Amino acid sequence: MNAKQLAGEKAAKFVTDGMTVGLGTGSTVYYTIQRLGEMVREGLRIRGIPTSRRTEQQAREVGIPLISFAEVSELDLTIDGADEVSSELDLIKGGGGALLREKLVAAASRRLIVVADSSKRVATLGRFPLPVEVVPFAWEVTARRVADVGCVPTRRSVDGEPFVSDNGNYILDCAFGSIPDPADRHRALKLLPGVVETGLFVGMAETVVIGSESGVSLLRR
Ligand code: 5RP
Repeated sequence: MNAKQLAGEKAAKFVTDGMTVGLGTGSTVYYTIQRLGEMVREGLRIRGIPTSRRTEQQAREVGIPLISFAEVSELDLTIDGADEVSSELDLIKGGGGALLREKLVAAASRRLIVVADSSKRVATLGRFPLPVEVVPFAWEVTARRVADVGCVPTRRSVDGEPFVSDNGNYILDCAFGSIPDPADRHRALKLLPGVVETGLFVGMAETVVIGSESGVSLLRR
């Protein structure tokens, strides 16, 4: 079993009968969702809110009942991946482009459980370019303002076309090199007109499930 699968499947054990669950996006939480599908078929009763269209499709395929925020304001638990996890358990997320919905779902959850392989652990965030979601209108102006916060932003593209998020926005991948002050960087970016959300998840993760060749370990806040 690979490290992502180990972490992803282990995290499914946090889910118990009757829970409302935020379903993250990415190749690690993929395994959590597959396992939750098996648990639902074995009788577990849960209701999920997906963080992306991709996850919504997977959840439907494996038979997890889905709800929306019209029905609940708070979730018991969210399980999601990360691109970097610092020693303080702060995160960079959004490598898969789902950061806005991931942030909304995590913020509506009593607990955020993160699943990752050991390569995601860092002492200080910032080696992974920080994804920042921006509205397409005047994105060039927004990108210049974002650069003034101390990074080199690049608009994400796929096959030569701009990547468009599930919310119709662009993603700027922002090379900071190092982010020793994630809360301050997040606040500075959020103040800019045109910035919708950043991939900095500060003080949100309760537990990180790390998979490696030697097994699974848990980091707790
Ligand atoms: C998507 C994300 C993912 O959770 C993050 O990119 C980690 O993905 P993976 O588990 O595939 O490495 O933030 O927007």
